Amino acid sequence: MKQKIAPRCAVVLISGRGSNLEAIVEAIDKQALPLRISAVISNRPDAAGLTYAQHAGLKTHVVDHTHYADRAAFDAALARLIDFYSPDVVVLAGFMRMLTPEFVNHYLGRLVNIHPSLLPAYKGLKTHERALHDKAKVHGASVHFVTPDLDGGPVLMQVRVPVQPNDTPQSLAARVLAAEHRLYPAALALIAAGRVEFAADGLRVDNAPLAAPVDLPYTVEDASIHTE
Ligand code: GAR
Repeated sequence: MKQKIAPRCAVVLISGRGSNLEAIVEAIDKQALPLRISAVISNRPDAAGLTYAQHAGLKTHVVDHTHYADRAAFDAALARLIDFYSPDVVVLAGFMRMLTPEFVNHYLGRLVNIHPSLLPAYKGLKTHERALHDKAKVHGASVHFVTPDLDGGPVLMQVRVPVQPNDTPQSLAARVLAAEHRLYPAALALIAAGRVEFAADGLRVDNAPLAAPVDLPYTVEDASIHTE
């Protein structure tokens, strides 16, 4: 008899809209992603993603960063709650807080993030504005493992999004976000299948060192997003 492999368990951290969370839940529902979400945690009580998560029947929590004396106290409380669920992977999905090295090191190798740029380009905020300002021809998004170096951890998968001549930060952001919604489930599916290994000298996929991020092809659906 074949042994059924239990889906891995994730805790998802959000701060706002939660559209990446939604894309992950949809991929799980379509059985494209063998993951179980144990809890969704927001640092903001008013995050729209919390309402979505509740409607989707997920367990939700708020750890409001404004209630803590400093970053270390907030991160310690957050880690206590996450550890209650013993997740295999902690998924940052629009979680807009800088994390202490103590927190990051506690989850090293099982903490992943999605960032709206082709890392290592445009770490930090306002990535779409900065790409347009530089007249970049290609922009995109990255899923990476988090290390204490902000937006500097090893990149597992990227999607490249062509910049259009008439793009505004909003139109570019909308196309990148549409691509993110395919990218995060695809990257998490690799992880959930146990195919990705995090090591001090970089990532290994299927036991081979990953020389460059896996490239997720850009599709017509991503390109046909309109913001007007
Ligand atoms: C996404 O574009 C994500 O890449 C970005 O925040 C947005 C969250 O949207 N994350 C970062 O900038 C992290 N540095 P969502 O709440 O709709 O998923």
